[in-house]
Formats: sequence, structure tokens, C-alpha cells
Amino acid sequence: MSIVDRKRDHLEICLKEDVNARRQTTMLEDVHLLHNALPELNIDEIRLDVEFLGHRLKAPLLIDSMTGGTQMSYEINRALATAAEEAGIGIGVGSQRAGLKRPDVAETYSVVRKAAPNAFIFGNVGAAQLVKGMGVAEAKKAVEMIDADALAIHANPLQEAVQVGGDPQYSGATEKIRLLAESLDVPVIVKEVGAGISGEVASRLQEAGAKAINVSGVGGTSWSGVESIRARRAKEGRVAGLGEAFWDWGIPTAAALVEVRRSVSVPVIASGGIRGGIDMAKCMALGADVCAMARPFLLAAADGGKEGVLGLVESLTSELRLAMFLTGSRDPSALRRARKVVTGRLGEWMRGTTP
Ligand SMILES: Cc1cc2nc3c(=O)[nH]c(=O)nc-3n(C[C@H](O)[C@H](O)[C@H](O)COP(=O)(O)O)c2cc1C
Repeated sequence: MSIVDRKRDHLEICLKEDVNARRQTTMLEDVHLLHNALPELNIDEIRLDVEFLGHRLKAPLLIDSMTGGTQMSYEINRALATAAEEAGIGIGVGSQRAGLKRPDVAETYSVVRKAAPNAFIFGNVGAAQLVKGMGVAEAKKAVEMIDADALAIHANPLQEAVQVGGDPQYSGATEKIRLLAESLDVPVIVKEVGAGISGEVASRLQEAGAKAINVSGVGGTSWSGVESIRARRAKEGRVAGLGEAFWDWGIPTAAALVEVRRSVSVPVIASGGIRGGIDMAKCMALGADVCAMARPFLLAAADGGKEGVLGLVESLTSELRLAMFLTGSRDPSALRRARKVVTGRLGEWMRGTTP
């Protein structure tokens, strides 16, 4: 099966099937922002804008890495990017491997820069591809393809291991990331795809030159789930069973966030199962610099195009603003100091790990 066909399957499955984590959650339900009955500020004084990797975003929000390579990706990327430009938020493209191998589909990615000339845009390549030989020259081409402001490298050992035709080779991945971080003119972000990044891995990545870490933890889209459904359809029972068994595997988003924030000084992106502005506020209070969401933006773009995406951004930012008001937080940095109580499993996790 070609990469382009696989990308089409991924989109179609993410649009039509329930691919969320099943028994595991983000653990954000264990974070309680303390309500402030006397916030001593007016809601219209609240500022949502943040500086992220040298760019000003109107809200601490990114559309996480998703797509490219097919006609449908072109339409989705155009809708997402037009909305990102208008809303002043950042946007990523999906793995650019297809665009590098097939110049005829490069415009399904470059449409993002065309539609969002001023937005913060990040490219995407896979750590597994780096291990298998993708070099600095191709990474530079990926950056040029969309005139990217940063390049995200995805680490997806679980997805690779439960994918029909996947090739889970990660030996030497950190050194490949270091090489790219040293050689590119734009900052490198390292991300998971929904199984989370630990504090130990994050500090290794920071040491290797990563300029931001996107935790992409468990609680949202399960890539083991998506690949399991693909495998089932392809009548690959053994692979489907493996994906099913690991559906909820990984580090829940809130736990990954706490771990990573304690371990690195570079900006941290919260992603994986963030589904509203209160989730965003909780993530910021746990130390995230910005939040990112993937599948909800895909659904909004497929359902309502640019307007659908703008509607989602509007509801997220309204909820975030209200959570900030009710915690007396004038701006995102104040939200990071907001009082919170952590209970339940996340509380146990925090007590159970060493800083
Ligand atoms: C349709 C779709 C395609 C994705 N493709 C990529 C990709 O190519 N590269 C990548 O780094 N992450 C990819 N992701 C993972 C997301 O960036 C994100 O880490 C993950 O979905 C968790 O966020 P969510 O729960 O908000 O969906 C994709 C996600 C979706 C929904």
C-alpha cells in the first residue's frame, strides 16, 4: 500500500470511527482549578496572547500535525490554515514523507503556507524515517515546502509497531534528532502522536537540541486504535489484535505534562485529548506554554470548513477566558501560577515519580 493510500485510510478512520482512548483518560479530571469568588479583574481585561518560539499567537493554541498527501488533505489543510491565519493561532501539517517522495502532492502541504502567509507553521517528519536514512537535505526540503517556522519530529514507536507494514526501528533516533537540530535554520519540536513523552525522554531531547516538546499523551486519539482498525479491515488479525491490546497504552496527557515540565526548561506543548478551554486552562496551570489539538480540528474542518474551525477556536478561547477570569488570571503566565488541587490518580502519579 502506498503512503498516499495509508494517509487516506487514516483520515477516513479518524473521521468515521471512534478512535479515542477507551479505558484510559488524560487524567485532567484530577486537576481542580481553585475557583476565585473575588477575581479583582474584569473579563475584558484578560489577555490570551503568548509568545511561542519567537512568534506571537493570539491564543495559546496550535492545530496539531495531521495531514497532507491526498486531495482531501488539500481541502482540509486549506480550511484549517485559512482559519489559523484569521484566528492568529499556529498550525502544523502531517508527515511530509509523501510530499518529499511525490513532488506532485507537495501542494497538499504547501497550501497551508499559501492560505496562512503570516501564521506560525510547523512541518513534520518521523523519527523512524530519520533512522531509516532520511537526512538533513530532505528535512530542509520539508521546511522549504511549506516555508515552515519550525519542524516537528514525531516519535511514534507504538504506532509503527502496530501498523500493517510498519517498521519499528528506533536505534540511534536521538542522534538523528540531534543532527537535525544542529543543521536546520528553524527550531525542532519533538512530539509523540498520543502515547506521551516521559520526563527522562524529554530531558534527553532537550540535551539533543529540541527547542520544544509536545507531550501528545494518552486520553485522546489512539493511534494504536486507528492502526488496529486498519489492520482489521485488511484482514491482518494478528496485527489488529496487537493494536487492540495497546489501544490505551502510554502516559496520560496530564501525567506526561507534569513529568516533562519538571524535566526541561524549553517550551512544553500540551496535546492528546484536550477537548475544551477548561482542559486548556488546566494544562497551562500544570505548566504548558501552549496547547494543541488534532482530531477535533479535523472533524470541525470536515463538517464546517473554515467557519467550522473558527467556531471551534471561538468556543475554546471563550471557555479559556472564562476559566482565567474565574481563577483571577489576567494573562497566560498568571494562569500558570493559578492555584490548583490535584487529586486521584494524577495526585498519586505526582507523588510516585521523582522530579
Ligand atoms: C487524522 C490525524 C492524522 C495525524 N497525523 C499525524 C502526523 O502525520 N504526524 C504527527 O506527528 N502526528 C499526527 N497525528 C497526531 C496528532 O498530531 C496528535 O499528536 C494526536 O492525534 C493527539 O491529539 P488529539 O487527541 O487532539 O487528536 C495525527 C492525528 C490525526 C487525528
